[in-house]
Parts: sequence; C-alpha cells; structure tokens
Amino acid sequence: MNREDFPILKNNLIYFDNGATTLKPQVMIDATVDYYRNYSANAHRGDYNISVKVDELYEKTRTLIKEFINAKKEKEIIYTSGTTDSLNRIIFGYFANVLNKDDEVILTKSEHASNLLPWFELVDKIGIKIKYIELNEHKEVTLNSLKNVITDKTKVISIAHITNVIGDVRPIKEIIKLAHSKNILCVIDGAQSVPHMKIDVQDLDIDFLAFSAHKMCGPTGLGILYAKEELLKDLKPISFGGGMNSTFTPNGDRLYYASPYLYEAGTQNIAGVLGFKASIEYLNKIGMDNISKYEKELKKYAVKRLNEIDNLEIYNEFSESGIISFNYKDIFAQDLAIYLNKCNICVRSGSHCAKILNEELGIKNTCRMSLYFYNTKEEIDYLIKVLKNPKIKEEII
Ligand code: ALA
Repeated sequence: MNREDFPILKNNLIYFDNGATTLKPQVMIDATVDYYRNYSANAHRGDYNISVKVDELYEKTRTLIKEFINAKKEKEIIYTSGTTDSLNRIIFGYFANVLNKDDEVILTKSEHASNLLPWFELVDKIGIKIKYIELNEHKEVTLNSLKNVITDKTKVISIAHITNVIGDVRPIKEIIKLAHSKNILCVIDGAQSVPHMKIDVQDLDIDFLAFSAHKMCGPTGLGILYAKEELLKDLKPISFGGGMNSTFTPNGDRLYYASPYLYEAGTQNIAGVLGFKASIEYLNKIGMDNISKYEKELKKYAVKRLNEIDNLEIYNEFSESGIISFNYKDIFAQDLAIYLNKCNICVRSGSHCAKILNEELGIKNTCRMSLYFYNTKEEIDYLIKVLKNPKIKEEII
C-alpha cells in the first residue's frame, strides 16, 4: 500500500524493522523542510508573522493528535521526546509523588526497558514492590493471570498495549475495566499499537498513554504523553525553565502555566511537531482500520511462508500484530540479520530492549521482522527465497 509515497523505497530496500522506527513519507519530509526553510521561528514566543504561523500549526497538531486518539481536551496531549520520555514523565512526574513504600505496581516480563527501568528506580527510591503477571504458553497476559497478582496494595498496572518482541495485543479494555473497579490506575505503552490500529482513549478509559511519532511515519525526537484530565493535577513537571512559567521572583516565588505548557519547558521539537502533523493527516487519509486489516493479512501470510522452512523457529506465530520473532537453527540471530542485510533486507536482531523476556522464552536473542502497511507479499516471498538458500550457512561463515 502507498509505496510510492516513501522515497527510500525507491532504493530497492526491503524494510522489515518498523517496530524500531518506520520509514518517512515525502509529505512529512516536505512539511519539515517547509518549516526550516520558510518560517523557522520559535513557538509561543514571538509577536511577528512567522512566529504566529508556527504557533498556529503547533497547536493545530495538538488538536489533530487529540482527535487521532479521541482524547477529550488539548490539555491532555503533551509533547515529549518519545515514548521513553513520556513514560519517565508519567512515572517520575506522577507515580513518584503518589506511591508509598510497599505499594505494588504490576508489570510483565515482556515489557520494553522503558517500562521497567523507571519502575526499578522507584523500587530503590520509595520501596515500591513490583509484581509480574504470569504469561500463558503464548506469552500473553490473561485476565485470570492478572487477577492472581492484584492485591489490596496494587496501585498501578503498567503494560504495553502490544509488546515489541511477542507482538501480542493485550486486552487493555478489559484490563483497565478490572483495574478501575479496584481503584488501580493503568499506564499504557502504546509505542507498538498507536501506529497500527485505531486507539480511542475514552472508549478504552486509558489513564496514561505514551507513544512515539517516529514509529508512525513521523519524525524522531517527538513523543506524546496523554494524561486523563483529572490526573493532571497530580502530574508534576520534571523539567523546569522557559515556556512553562508565567512569572518568578528573586526569592523563588513562581507561577507556572497549566497543562500542556507546564510540561513543555524549553524550545520544543517544533520541526518534529509540524512534520508529525503531516504524518497524522497522511495516516488518517489511509485509514487506521485499513492499516490494521492489511497488516493482519500480511502477518498471516508471512507466518505461513516462514513455516515452510524447517530450520526456522517462530516464537509468536499466534500474536495478532505485524511482529514476528524467530531464529534459524544453528545460526546466531545477529549473523542471520547480517546475512539478510547482504540481501537488502532490514530486520532487527538481539534482545530488542526486552532483556528479561528471555526468562520466559528461554532464549536471549531473536531476529525480529516487524511489518507496516507499505510492506508487501512480494517482499515476504523474497525473504523466504533467501532464507531457503541451501548455502545459507556457508554464506554466513
Ligand atoms: N523499541 C524499539 C524496538 O522495539 C526501538 O525496536
């Protein structure tokens, strides 16, 4: 779908690393260049025309993002530098202030480092306790396994909507409903879901959501923190400076703005925001439902074809997203990725920042292909052809 919109695809590249970042369409590149070339001013600081234009576009983008995830208000949409930054702001700006010693946070072992390490820090700082949900044989979360770890000390469940190695789509609507019935808040890492499916934060009743622009045809260095309006009063900024205060005095008296500006100290990634506007308009035009439907079909096809190869083990063929993790018998994952690179195919290898998932999988490293709407069955056929190369081991050695 829409391959002609991506200039890099003209280079004969087969790009299967969309979980890491996606390719960029010309419209996003144009919007970024347009900003730098034609009205390169700061936001919320100037009283001249090009600055006013920046302000307008900067806030229009916020409205567009609000509509994209069906948030209620613009003030619930905060610009950050990426999912990692969003999660850190949620964990250190909110939970570090409201959690007490022995309060429990529920996580899983298939989370990305960004949804584990900040919590580990709170274990050291405050003495909170971490509980892991037991995963089933397909490495998925079930409501029953979640119920088994909830106690009257549980204060927060922090999980990916779709995990980045297994690619399982968690039943977050049911999880959040159960959590809220017990006064537990939910943090959702949407890095691998928001780019691939329609997300409605009101329907799902999400408390906090984090995602990145660069995994959805947008620029790097920009992320979004969604926080439900009623939680904003206890979400404290973790960085302070220009743009977030209305006044301050020598003795330290100060007045800060309200959300979202309270959390956006310093010059923000303006080019990124304006580029992201083009990306969201672009994705809206294609339609998120069309994207997820197409990816599901493609994933099924890829699994079917990969299963033709006897020496290949797939670790997540049952998960619904476009992520497929596998190993080729007797070939180290990184060696396989290097071989595929020689064939112009990009996949990721290693632990994919999910370093404690190996306890569940019993394996440390995998090759991961992760699909997006511009991938095709023909590209998958070519991957299969090079994986079926009878001399594959010789070529790697
Ligand atoms: N989190 C990104 C990935 O899974 C970088 O590849």
